[in-house]
Amino acid sequence: MTSFTIEAPAKVNLTLHVVGKREDGYHLLDSLVAFAGVGDTLEFSPSGTLSLDVSGPTASQIPTEGENIILKAARLLAEATGVSKGGAIRLTKRLPVAAGIGGGSADAAAALKGLMRLWDVSLAPEALRNLALSIGADVPVCLAGTPMRMMGVGEVLEPAPALPPAWLVLVNPMVPLHTPPVFKARTGPFSSADPLRESPGDAKALALALAARRNDLTPPAITIEPVVGEVLAAIATTADCLLPRMSGSGATCFGLYAQEAQARLAAAQLIAAHPGWWIAPAQLLS
Ligand code: C5P
Repeated sequence: MTSFTIEAPAKVNLTLHVVGKREDGYHLLDSLVAFAGVGDTLEFSPSGTLSLDVSGPTASQIPTEGENIILKAARLLAEATGVSKGGAIRLTKRLPVAAGIGGGSADAAAALKGLMRLWDVSLAPEALRNLALSIGADVPVCLAGTPMRMMGVGEVLEPAPALPPAWLVLVNPMVPLHTPPVFKARTGPFSSADPLRESPGDAKALALALAARRNDLTPPAITIEPVVGEVLAAIATTADCLLPRMSGSGATCFGLYAQEAQARLAAAQLIAAHPGWWIAPAQLLS
């Protein structure tokens, strides 16, 4: 077998309603999750031993303490299948870390896909979903890789209505924001589930549907990192922005645009005003 690559696209929570809390402290969600045309890339090559090599613009942000999420995925897949072959994995890291766009989850999902191919093993869908969930709440949706209504703590997935062509600009102020404190800082009553029932006809209709919903983690994220509020305000000032919103538990926010040219112009405007921020125009994948 020769080398092959698998893309690990950024996950974007277009909506995120916190609808309850489990006994174990995990929160129950109702979230419209989609993917963006920007992400990390994993290359897999046959090898007698398992190895991981990391390069790319945000490689230095990967925490060195604890087990890397890709190697954890490999270990759990080996345990679940009883098959443990080697493999040389090269990760090109482009997404910021601890950023609310599922960088680690996308890498773990891509690692599971790549290693199943490299090792020529498979798992029943439910066993694979449970394995993914044990790595992280967002790993199952990243395995799916298509727009989904995500419920439970991430384990209940339903295909979302088709999304119209649209563009995003992802903006991260280069401040890591860890997920647990953001969930902990959330206060007030839980939201009701409010899924998208119909396919919005165009980007404007999508923006209207999203504007009627929200990301419930935005207020606690701003409390912990006020710069998130600045990011949202900066996105809102760009020309032709249909909607500014935070993804996941932050700190990455996105602007929604109808056209590629509008997104590229908005990205250029934001890069000029905020040279230290990570800013990526990307297609909303359907
Ligand atoms: O599973 P993951 O590592 O993505 O979650 C990190 C932390 O975020 C959890 O330990 C939990 O504190 C919080 N979380 C939550 N409810 C979710 C997902 C995550 O409370 N649905």
